[in-house]
Amino acid sequence: MIALPATLIDREGRAFTVRRLTADDRTALDAMYLAFEPKRGAQGLPPVEKNLARWLDRILDAGDHFGVIVDLELLGHVMLLPIDSERAELANFLHQSIRNRGIGTAINRIALDIARDRGMKRVWLCVEPFNRAAVRSYEKAGFKRLPGSLWETEIEMEAVLDVPM
Ligand SMILES: CC(C)(COP(=O)(O)OP(=O)(O)OC[C@H]1O[C@@H](n2cnc3c(N)ncnc32)[C@H](O)[C@@H]1OP(=O)(O)O)[C@@H](O)C(=O)NCCC(=O)NCCS
Repeated sequence: MIALPATLIDREGRAFTVRRLTADDRTALDAMYLAFEPKRGAQGLPPVEKNLARWLDRILDAGDHFGVIVDLELLGHVMLLPIDSERAELANFLHQSIRNRGIGTAINRIALDIARDRGMKRVWLCVEPFNRAAVRSYEKAGFKRLPGSLWETEIEMEAVLDVPM
C-alpha cells in the first residue's frame, strides 16, 4: 500500500504528487475544471461551467478524492465513489497539459490500493470505447472489460481486488 502523499516520476521524468484533497482545495479544483478541455468529453463530464459547482458539490459529498499536483498546481482529480459496501466506482480527470505521461495509469493503481485497503472487493467504472487513453490506462492498471454487446456506447470495466484474509 502506497503511503500518501506520494511523489512519483512520470514517463517524461517529471515529478507529480498524489495526495488526498481537503476542503481547502476547492478553489484550485474549480480552477482546474474551468480550464479543463474538452468539457463534456467523457460521458458528458466534466460539465460546462454553469453546472460545475453543482456537480462538484454532489461528488465531493461522498467517497475518497485525491489530487494530482504538478509544480505546485492542482492538475488532476481522482475519485473513488462508493457503490455499496463491497464496490466503489473510479473516475479520473487529468488536465490536458499532463495527459499521456503515464500519470493516469499510476493513479489507477493507487486508487486500487486504496480501495483494497478500505476492504472493497471490486472497483467498477464505465468508459466510452473511443476514449482509447482511458481504456488503455485502466487495462494497464488491471481492469478487465465486463461482457457486453458490441454495440454499447459505453463499456463497463472492473478490477477484482485480492483482499488479504
Ligand atoms: C483518461 C486519463 C485519466 C488517462 O490518463 P493518462 O495519464 O492520459 O494515461 P496514461 O498516459 O497513463 O495511459 C494512456 C495510454 O493510452 C495510450 N493512448 C493514448 N491515446 C491513445 C489513442 N488515441 N489510441 C490508443 N492508445 C492511446 C497511451 O499511449 C498510453 O498507453 P501506453 O502507456 O501503453 O503508451 C486522461 O487522459 C484524462 O484525464 N482524459 C480526459 C478525461 C477522461 O477521459 N477521463 C476518463 C473518464 S472514464
